[in-house]
Parts: sequence; structure tokens; C-alpha cells
Amino acid sequence: MLKLNNIIKNKIDKLISEPGKVFGLVYPYMFILVTILGFLYVINLNYISRQNVDPPLPDTTAQSDLPVMQSKTIPPIDITKIREPAPDLIAKGKNIFTTVCSSCHGTEGKGDGPTAASLNPKPRNFTSKEGWKNGSKLSQIYKTLQDGIPGSGMASYEYLTPEEKFGLAHYIRTTFVPNPSQDSPDDLTVLDQLYNLSKGKEIPTQIPVAAAAKFVISENDSTVQVITGIMSTLSGNYSNPAVAIFDKITQNKFQALVSLERSLDWKENEQLFINTIVDNVNQNGFNRQVFNLTDNDWDLIYVYLKNVL
Ligand code: HEC
Repeated sequence: MLKLNNIIKNKIDKLISEPGKVFGLVYPYMFILVTILGFLYVINLNYISRQNVDPPLPDTTAQSDLPVMQSKTIPPIDITKIREPAPDLIAKGKNIFTTVCSSCHGTEGKGDGPTAASLNPKPRNFTSKEGWKNGSKLSQIYKTLQDGIPGSGMASYEYLTPEEKFGLAHYIRTTFVPNPSQDSPDDLTVLDQLYNLSKGKEIPTQIPVAAAAKFVISENDSTVQVITGIMSTLSGNYSNPAVAIFDKITQNKFQALVSLERSLDWKENEQLFINTIVDNVNQNGFNRQVFNLTDNDWDLIYVYLKNVL
């Protein structure tokens, strides 16, 4: 026992005195370990380098639907009153002009706002008599605001109320336009009739198209349910000869059933039934195989469909 201990001790002493040998013994294991670790790293590289959560990209394919809008009433206005440049109307117009219009038309109305440089044609210089397309009468400015000027930076401001549009027109005319031309009574009558000003206007509630479509579909839901039910009893039930015939004479079973559902008078007699199908073949979900049916086939399919529909 002592001998063995001595031998081991000697060996260890020998190894310690020769570090190169120790390294030689350990090196192959180190090499294998590092290789395995490296291998695992490469295998998992996908997980390590790839983000699990995709970065949110803006969806540029999405189409926006109509927004929900409450119905609103545009109150009728009194033309004889609103044609007068009352201070409160002008103040209202000035407010809107400063926030909405001055970026193009400039705070002095000279058509030199900060955005003007990039525009062609240039915004109107209200202080000059030159270049007006519609004109500077009340009714003409109203028209400009209502319809915009196509092919220019001057958009339609249709969404403003009639009162706001008159306010703007008064503000522009009293503040910037030298000796603005006056409207004749006819000008204002025409304006009134054109835009229904003294009648007011009801704007109905608007709901998104998608919601409207859902609404219409749900109204048809019961038909769809009935027919889906029939479809499931039809499928695979070919031991019933009527089902086999129906299968043969339809190109679109669902459409065929819907078209029969929609005109139930064929149930009165078999001839009516045959006419209903044959007259519109190819458009009603049936196909030209109907012309090959025997009298017996017609009897079978008639009785069958009359029962299920
Ligand atoms: C994005 C720039 C821009 C904004 C904002 C803008 N306009 Fe204009 N406006 C124009 C341009 C450009 C023209 C000239 C169009 C042309 O000559 O075809 C014009 C022309 C006009 C005219 C003259 C029409 C005529 O008869 O020739 C009036 C009046 C007018 N704008 C009023 C307004 C009012 C009021 C607002 C704010 C509610 C407004 N604009 C906002 C660019 C703008």
C-alpha cells in the first residue's frame, strides 16, 4: 500500500517538474471542449442573432375606410343679415385666416406666406386687383372656399360652416382688398340657391363601409344559415339518387340553392320548377346537364328540393 502511494507521489512529482507534459495531457480535452462549445454556438446563431419580435413596420397596404360621423344639421342662414360685414363675423374670419390661410396668403394677405415659395401658381395677393380667377365679391370668395381652385394649392374648405366662410370672405374684403366689388342681389340669390344656404342642410350619419357590409350580411344571415345546413346534408349523401342528380346538374351548389331560395314560386308545380332552372342555366348555379335529365330525374330532384328548401 505504501509502495503504491509512493509510486503515485513520484509520478505526480515528476509531472509537476515537467509542465509541458501536463499541458500535453490536458490539451486534447480542452480542444474537444472548445470545438463542441463553438459548434453549439454556431447551431444556435439564429436564436442569438435574430430578434424574436419583428420590428413594427407601418402597414402601407391598409386602406382606410370612411370614418364614423355623427349626423349634423347645418342651420339655415339669413343671407340678408350675413351679407353685412358685422364685427363678430369679421373677428371669426380673422381667427380662421390666421390659423389656416396665412401660411400661404401671408398675415398681410399679400400671398407671401412661408409656404408660398414652393407653390405654382402663387397664392393670391389680396391687396392687388390683378389675377383673381373667381373674383373678390362675397359670393365669389364663397365659391372659392366651397370648391377650391382646381390645379392649384388652393384646396376646398367645404367643411367650414357657411357662417365661417362668410366670416373669412368679410375679413379678406374689409382688411386686404382695396375697394372690393359689391355683390348684386342676383349674385347672392344665385349663391343661396347653389348651396342651399337659407334652407340649411341635413348631413346624415355616416358609418364605415365595412360596418355597413356586415350589417347587410347579417340581414341575410338566416338564408345563409339555412343553405349552409342543406349543403352539409348534401355532401357525401350520394346514396340518395336526388343528391347525386343535384351534384351532376350544378356548377355551384351554394349559388343554385340561393337562387331557388330567392324565388320560391317554383314550389307550386314541377313545370315551374323546371322552367326556373332551365331558363337561367349557367347564371343560377346550375349547368347544362339539366338538359339531359329524364322525367323521372326531374320528379326526384323536384320532390327532394321542395322538401329541403
Ligand atoms: C396651401 C396654400 C393655400 C392655403 C392654405 C390657402 N390658399 Fe387660398 N390660394 C392659394 C393659391 C395657390 C391660390 C391661387 C390659385 C390660382 O391662382 O389658381 C389661392 C387663391 C385664393 C383666393 C383667390 C381666388 C380667386 O378668385 O382667384 C382666395 C379668396 C383664397 N385663396 C382664400 C383662401 C382662404 C380664405 C384660405 C383659408 C381658409 C386659403 N385661401 C388658404 C393657396 C392657398
